[in-house]
Amino acid sequence: MSRVTTATLQEMKEKGDPITLLTAYDYPTACLLDEAGIDILLVGDSVGNTVLGYENTLPVTLEESLHHTAAVARGAKRAMVVGDLPFLYYQTTIGEAVWNAGRYLKEAGAHAVKLEGGRERAEAVRAMVETGIPVMGHLGLTPQMVHQFGGYRVQGKTEEAAQRLIEDALILEDAGIFSLVLECVPADVAAKVTEKLHIPTLSCGAGPHCDGQVMVVHDMLGCTDRKPPKFVKQYANLREIALEALKTFKKEVKEGVFPGPEHCYGK
Ligand code: KIV
Repeated sequence: MSRVTTATLQEMKEKGDPITLLTAYDYPTACLLDEAGIDILLVGDSVGNTVLGYENTLPVTLEESLHHTAAVARGAKRAMVVGDLPFLYYQTTIGEAVWNAGRYLKEAGAHAVKLEGGRERAEAVRAMVETGIPVMGHLGLTPQMVHQFGGYRVQGKTEEAAQRLIEDALILEDAGIFSLVLECVPADVAAKVTEKLHIPTLSCGAGPHCDGQVMVVHDMLGCTDRKPPKFVKQYANLREIALEALKTFKKEVKEGVFPGPEHCYGK
């Protein structure tokens, strides 16, 4: 079983073999996703709202992200593991950006990092790539800009915004990114970006014409009671299954059904 690398992903784009990316934040989930053959495990800063109970991704710290990335890296034997640089750890100075990105590879066992933003991040991307850190880009609805955007809205809807997004994608590709997430972008705009880029594009609510598909694992497995975004397909309802099991446990303890003789040790 060989590891998914940047070269594997490039070959997949060229062959028209769709790439799968799911988020993972812990060891058991990483093992499960790896066994299912998912190509990329992204330890998204969505760990903030999905797992840590924050309102959005902004409070996530580098140490929290590294901690979760290391757990995922221990579980992923085949998948590429991508650490997601949290807000304010790559937007200040280039030196700080490279150092923080490098910690994902050096300390957490990740194979690449992701960062949000377009042309304004090109210099940092170039410096990371020159240091040997593969970088995944992220354009469209970039959640670290939620306050700037005034909410979670589809991006690239006007002709002008679409044009700027395409330019940003080309600038990031030129700076050295190996793949690009497009989040909440109209499908025809994502199709144009995919056609223009040589590297793979990954759709997170950007339609079917990208080279791969991305989802937050808790959304697609139905782990929470929050309403998922329109682009999510819920493949299971784990919350309902878990809740039923928990209620049954409580009932059986109260009624003296659990533990039964088969759960007890003899002398
Ligand atoms: O943090 C995250 O999970 C992400 C994906 C939704 C692309 O950035």
